[in-house]
Amino acid sequence: MPTDPYASRTAPPRFPDGFLWGVSTSAHQIEGAADLREPSVWDTFTAAPGRVKDGSTAAVACDHYHRYREDVALLADLGVNAYRFSVSWPRAASPGGLDFYDRLTDELCAAGVRPVPTLYHWDLPAGLDWLDRDTASRFADHVSRVAARLGDRITRWITLNEPAEHTLLGHALGAHAPGGRLLFDALPAAHHQLLAHGLAVRALRASGAADIGIANSHGPTWPASGDRADIEAADFYDTLLNRLFADPLLLGAYPAGLGDLMPGDVTADLEVISEPLDFYGVNYYAPTRVGAPQGTEIEFGGLTLPAELPFTVLDIEGVPVTDFGWPVVPEGLTELLTGFRDRYGDRLPPVVITENGCSGDGLDDQDRIAYLDGHLRALHRALEAGVDVRGYFVWSLLDNFEWAEGYTRRFGLVHVDFGTLARTPKASYGWYRDFLRTQR
Ligand code: FCB
Repeated sequence: MPTDPYASRTAPPRFPDGFLWGVSTSAHQIEGAADLREPSVWDTFTAAPGRVKDGSTAAVACDHYHRYREDVALLADLGVNAYRFSVSWPRAASPGGLDFYDRLTDELCAAGVRPVPTLYHWDLPAGLDWLDRDTASRFADHVSRVAARLGDRITRWITLNEPAEHTLLGHALGAHAPGGRLLFDALPAAHHQLLAHGLAVRALRASGAADIGIANSHGPTWPASGDRADIEAADFYDTLLNRLFADPLLLGAYPAGLGDLMPGDVTADLEVISEPLDFYGVNYYAPTRVGAPQGTEIEFGGLTLPAELPFTVLDIEGVPVTDFGWPVVPEGLTELLTGFRDRYGDRLPPVVITENGCSGDGLDDQDRIAYLDGHLRALHRALEAGVDVRGYFVWSLLDNFEWAEGYTRRFGLVHVDFGTLARTPKASYGWYRDFLRTQR
């Protein structure tokens, strides 16, 4: 990744008072202590050979379960006012499992950092399957239990993380747990997650929660050319990865054609799915350039995309890429948010960027600083254009278990030595701390 392509040397933009500034993590990627919880589909998946690039598992990960005090101290020193973590459903379901989140919540509150838990970040209890409708109501039970335990101290909740990626990678392409390769037959897993989200919103409201959202992954889709075939392929991709997960929440309807692929009559479910939200969480990493299908298997971003897909994903030329191969396009964030405002209008609640960041090695991570600087400026341009943005969370606090990439992709502001588990703040940690000081 070339150095410093976007970082401007002008003063950082000023965001509104009360803005939520944070970092994000997820339970399976950092906690470890796998022996102190029930197994998840990720344990089963990573136990099979060849699934994870470096053959690793998250059994220990960053050992955050035992080192959470040190990690909360890092948050306090960083100066964030919020921390997005996830509650592991398999841990919450095990005896005493919620005690850990109770301790973490207290530690955060004592440090003046607002806890913003995600109630599901891909670590489904082993034995459950999103292809089963019943998993949605099981999730609502999990949510009620967590809210009953932590709701006296936590007001802001995120239901699910990225049902789009979870469906695509976990059920359609087989790159993530549970490893399904169902292509379009994976769509019921999307519907059941969306239903789970709606039921969770109701369960949270019943517990008295007032500030509820989701963390959905979105990015602009760019057609490869002005040719009709490329435009149609890009439109289809956009429908599948963006609108399929935003329209039912914000408009109460599936995009034309896709509702028919869902299991049974979903009319009543859409009422549940479109329960009003207090904020809409967006995980943004990059736009995607899409062209007409080429009828051949392609490699993209570590994935093998099968030939039968009705589109091809292409490289975006002329921009830097991260070590993951993801293009660095900050202005895509402005485009995404203004596009959402135009498409959803008043139905779009205030937006919070629930993830944004990049992978790359090294303690002097100038490329990450350039990435974050560029994206914060792009976010500010969306604000200036009238989008109601209320918060921003960097992915991630710590280097961690990056799913099928194992420990080979480092997204942290803080370096973790996976031999000794020592934490060392990177240059980007100091940069973000300095930036946050300008916002007080
Ligand atoms: C997102 C996931 C998160 C992390 C980042 C890099 O899709 O939500 O867990 O893997 O990508």
